Amino acid sequence: MKRPTDPALARALGRSTVISRHFYRVRSARIPAGHRVLRLAHLTDVHVGRMTPEARLEGAIDAINALAPDVVCMTGDYVAHSLQYLPRLTHHLGRLTAPTFATLGNHDHWHGAPAVARALEHAGVTVLVNRSVRFEAGGSAWRIVGIDDAVTGHHDVDRAWSEPGDEPSLVLSHLAELASVADRRGAALVLSGHTHGGQIPNGGVVERVMRRMGHRYILGWYTVGETPVYVNRGIGAAVFPWRTQPASAEVAGIELGPVGAPGAAVAFGEGVEELRSVVAWPGPPGTFSDEIA
Ligand SMILES: [Fe+2]
Repeated sequence: MKRPTDPALARALGRSTVISRHFYRVRSARIPAGHRVLRLAHLTDVHVGRMTPEARLEGAIDAINALAPDVVCMTGDYVAHSLQYLPRLTHHLGRLTAPTFATLGNHDHWHGAPAVARALEHAGVTVLVNRSVRFEAGGSAWRIVGIDDAVTGHHDVDRAWSEPGDEPSLVLSHLAELASVADRRGAALVLSGHTHGGQIPNGGVVERVMRRMGHRYILGWYTVGETPVYVNRGIGAAVFPWRTQPASAEVAGIELGPVGAPGAAVAFGEGVEELRSVVAWPGPPGTFSDEIA
């Protein structure tokens, strides 16, 4: 489809290329003092295909590369209804300049998880399906744990944590409801997607429907036990193309470090409002959303 030039028309057609960039500085008592701060970018629910304007995906990759993060984390749903766009997925993700780790989502399993995983690997992405890897940045080691999709029942938590290692851990799980499990295993941070932030959360109707479907975590930050959980709005769509605020397409930047690391020291476990007030990274203090065309 030709890209509409009028932003209002593009929004009405569900073809908007606007990406919200959300930045957070997160401090966790589960990260040892002196551990280097990690700067990560979180991208999810790409849903490459007809429902997601390719220019939006292109803009998301540009936005992530502009952050120059230590690592990019992706939390599933790369396709929608078809595998025919996988070469486009590989092309776009192959432009990411930072080491990238990914777990899978329900749409990937519905349409062909092995093919999706191969497309990710061809783009240089490390696919974490119920396994973890050690990742080093600036001399400090982290463990990135990828739990496979729980919507389709492919998660295997014991296997995901079967590698030995006591590094502070980031957990990638398409479905945020596994955060309580991650919390019991000492996670420093959980990243999730799946809900698209409600996608068109007008008047709370979508949120009520999602809660009835069993979703407790729909958009933004939650605290589960002592673990901060971020539910990213994602950038694509699978069922209908429209997105409205506050669930417009998003790339998140998170600076994660120990309590007391330079910058604003915000300990987790203090409630959602506290998390929303964390200082932005790398934008000016208080930045929550920075819209770019
Ligand atoms: Fe999705």
